[in-house]
Formats: sequence, structure tokens, C-alpha cells
Amino acid sequence: MYPNSSQTAGRRPRSLFAAAGLICLVGLAWLLIDRGPAPAVGAPVLTADAPDLLLRSGGGTTTVHAGDRAFSLSARSMGLPDRIRFADGDVPFEHPFGPEDGLGASHNADSCLGCHVGNGRSPAADGFVADAGPVLLLALADGSPHPDLGQQLQDRGTAAEGTLTVDWVEKPGEYPDGTPFSLRRPVVSVDGADVSGLATSLRAAPPVFGGGLLEAIDVADLRALADPDDADGDGVSGRLQEAAGDDGAPTVGRFGWKAQHASILATTRHAFDVDLHLDHDLATEAFGDDFLGDTAFYTRTVAVPAIRDRDDPDVRAGAAWFTQVGCAACHRTEPYVTATVDVQALSDEVITPFTDLLLHDLGPGLADDLPQGVATGAEWRTPPLWGIGLTGVVGHEHYLHDGRARTLEEAILWHGGEAEGARSAFMALSAADRALVLRFLSAL
Ligand code: HEC
Ligand code: HEC
Repeated sequence: MYPNSSQTAGRRPRSLFAAAGLICLVGLAWLLIDRGPAPAVGAPVLTADAPDLLLRSGGGTTTVHAGDRAFSLSARSMGLPDRIRFADGDVPFEHPFGPEDGLGASHNADSCLGCHVGNGRSPAADGFVADAGPVLLLALADGSPHPDLGQQLQDRGTAAEGTLTVDWVEKPGEYPDGTPFSLRRPVVSVDGADVSGLATSLRAAPPVFGGGLLEAIDVADLRALADPDDADGDGVSGRLQEAAGDDGAPTVGRFGWKAQHASILATTRHAFDVDLHLDHDLATEAFGDDFLGDTAFYTRTVAVPAIRDRDDPDVRAGAAWFTQVGCAACHRTEPYVTATVDVQALSDEVITPFTDLLLHDLGPGLADDLPQGVATGAEWRTPPLWGIGLTGVVGHEHYLHDGRARTLEEAILWHGGEAEGARSAFMALSAADRALVLRFLSAL
């Protein structure tokens, strides 16, 4: 059952119902009860519209493990020397730093793993201050760092700059078919530091796996996807972020919620410097000269989990709806072939991360006032969706840049701006077809 690519308002062919009725009355009852009213964007009839889902969305690196270690395993295709370096880098990634090995007197957490729990997301700020939660980015009105507080409120440690509290405001809504829902948005307050007049942005930690593959996507492929002026008129533009490369020269940004970092090395350096506020000399004494490079290598080469139940008809129907309602305009379902890079396991792989890595304006609902690079407060990088169905199995389940969405469904309902069309088309589906989209996401 695949959605029709032509957007004709549809009714299921009566002959189908008749056949089903003849064969099995119970089946007919199921169809009538479970599928609900005909959706506005075209009924699920057989077309070739379903994307050809690549089981191994991370190419040769893919792991079929689907348990709580699903985001923590090494790229399957790596040879022994690379696996050893992976293990070397895992140590500083997991290590709880203390003042003796370089942890700053003010910091946001004492380890990478503390925020990227199970290599997944940070704990949500559910009205209380957890051991490690989302972080609050800060900037002066012109985007530059605050002279005392820097670019992030460091809310832990003996010299903590202040305390961050997040309260949630619920806003009820309803689908066109009357199904109610409620969305929550964060209200941030800071004690102990004066952040009035500053631009702020609350950020939850995204999962860290498959980063080396995203890094290995050819810049030319991303340039080809960018459509800054929406020349094809589909309502979805998408532009490249700019960031400094590892050689200092300007290049394309890929990592972070606004793609503000160009490489995993740059992201890792930023994490050590800002999240842990690390003294590199002390850390080098403890973990060796190349602890930064090793940690980045580890982060680049964590395996991507395989798609599950790819042949389940519901998953395939959900995948087809995903394309038809327009999700794939940003969360691309077509594969990339990675470039040849310094790590063989990451090179020349066919991968499907379900992202274009471009910046999109997702509307005022998700916007804050802190620009980064060329990204405005309203623009966010399309996050990869690979592995997203295992989020709750691995650790903390909440979505979007500040962790406001408690479910995948809520994440979709927050989409606006360039994704307004996709969100309304999703909302116009029957409850049963919406469930198919969510079933598809849960299989990633
Ligand atoms: C205090 C919590 C915290 C700690 C500790 C932390 N991170 Fe993060 N990490 C984040 C947040 C928040 C983001 C998103 C940042 C943004 O967009 O502003 C992030 C983003 C990332 C990303 C980018 C992922 C993507 O797809 O965009 C990588 C890679 C990463 N972190 C690696 C690390 C490593 C390696 C360490 C340890 C050196 C580390 N992090 C420590 C919170 C943390
Ligand atoms: C115009 C581009 C665009 C379209 C179309 C789009 N998305 Fe997104 N999606 C994004 C961006 C950008 C974000 C990150 C927003 C944020 O964090 O504030 C996102 C976030 C998400 C997330 C949360 C990811 C995470 O890691 O927390 C999910 C799930 C998701 N989208 C699914 C969908 C589905 C399903 C559709 C179709 C109904 C869709 N998206 C359509 C750009 C898009």
C-alpha cells in the first residue's frame, strides 16, 4: 500500500473493499475501523513511490545491534589498527574528568558520555536540574561572545557561572480530524548570572554516531542540493552553512544544530574547550599527545544502526507517506556515496542519513534569537534521522534542538516555515496513516 504520487484526493477503489470483504469479513472490518476517513492528500494505493530503503543506512559501517549499545559500537568494516584507535578514543570519550586531569572549575559536564548518554541525547531538563542537561548558548546582540560568560553558560563546578532552570509551557492543539495533542516549549531562567539583553539558545545534545560518514559526503553533493532562492519553487530552499575547516580555511558547516562546525575534530575540540572547559596540558598528561585526535577518531567511526523491519508493509507504507507528504525534501531518502577519505571504512560507502545537511527556516515556533555563522535564529540544519527509532532504547528520548519534543510525533508537529507544507500534509492524513509515518521512523 503506497501513497499515490499524484495528489488527487483519493478514495480507495471500491473493488478493493469488495475483494477484501469476500475474502475476509474481519479484514474488512479492520480496514474500515482502523484506517479512518480518507486522507486529504491521496489514498494509499500501490505506486512505485516508496523509497528503496537501504537496510544498511550506514553502508559497511552499519551494525544490526538494536539494543542499548546500538549507538556505541565500532564501524563494522574497520580493520584491527582502526579498531584499536577506536578503543583508544573511547577512553577519553567516556572518562569522567576531574580537576586532576584537566576539568575546568566551571563546566557543563565532566564527560562526553555524561551528555551524550549511550552516545545518544542528553537528559531533558524536566523542570529540575539534572546531572547534565541541555546547555544554554549565549551571545551579545551582534552575535559575539559575552566578555565574561563566553559563548555558553557553564552551570556546573566550583566556579559555576550560574544555575539554569527550564520550565515548560504546554500549548494544546488539534488535528483536522479532531485528535487533540499538546506541545511544550521551554522557558529558560538563569540564577546567579545576568543574561538579560543577551541572545540565548537552549541546546540538547544530539546523538553521536555516523559522524565520519556525514563528514565524508562530498561538498559538491551538498552544493548541488542547496537551493537558497527556491529556484525549483517547491517552498523548500535550504542553504549551506559556512564554518572554518580543520586547516582554518572557510568550508561547509555540517555538525551542531545549526551546522556551525565543519568537522568532527572541530566539534570535539569545541566540546573539550567549552562543555568540559578542559586544560589540555593536564589532559595530555593523562591521555597522551593525541587525546583530541583519538576522541575525534572514535566519534567519527561509531557504527550506524541498521534499519529494522524494512520489509514490513507498514514500514514501507510509512516510508512512502514520508516521501509523499514532503519530509524527504529535507530528510533525503536517496543515498549518498561518500568520498575517499583517510579512513577506509568511511570511504566510498553508500549511505542514507535522511538529511541534506542544509540550513532551513523552520518558522517562528522553533526560532530563537541567536544567529551562528550564516544561520539566522530561525534556521536549523536538517538532522539525520538514521537510528532515530532506537533513541528510547539507548537512552533519553526527546527531540529537536532543545529537547522540547517528547515524541517523534511532537517533533513533526513543531515543523513550520519551509516545512509548513509537509507538516500540514502530515496532519491531514488519517490517524492510521499518521501512525504509519511514525512506524517508519521507529524502524530507522
Ligand atoms: C554539556 C553537555 C555536552 C558534553 C559534555 C559534550 N557534548 Fe557534544 N554536544 C552537546 C550539545 C548541546 C550539542 C549540540 C551543540 C549545538 O548545536 O550548539 C553537541 C554536539 C555534538 C556533536 C555534533 C553531532 C551532530 O550531529 O551535529 C558531536 C560530534 C559531539 N557533540 C561530540 C562530543 C564529544 C566528542 C564530547 C566530549 C569531548 C562532547 N560532545 C561533550 C552537548 C555536550
Ligand atoms: C524544510 C525541511 C524539512 C522538512 C520538509 C521536514 N523536516 Fe524534519 N527537521 C528539519 C529540521 C531543520 C529539523 C531540526 C529542527 C530543530 O531542531 O529545531 C527537523 C527535525 C526533525 C525531527 C527531530 C530530529 C531530531 O534529531 O531531534 C524529526 C523526527 C523530523 N524532523 C521528521 C520529519 C518528518 C516526519 C517530516 C515530514 C512530515 C519532516 N521532518 C519534514 C527539516 C525538515
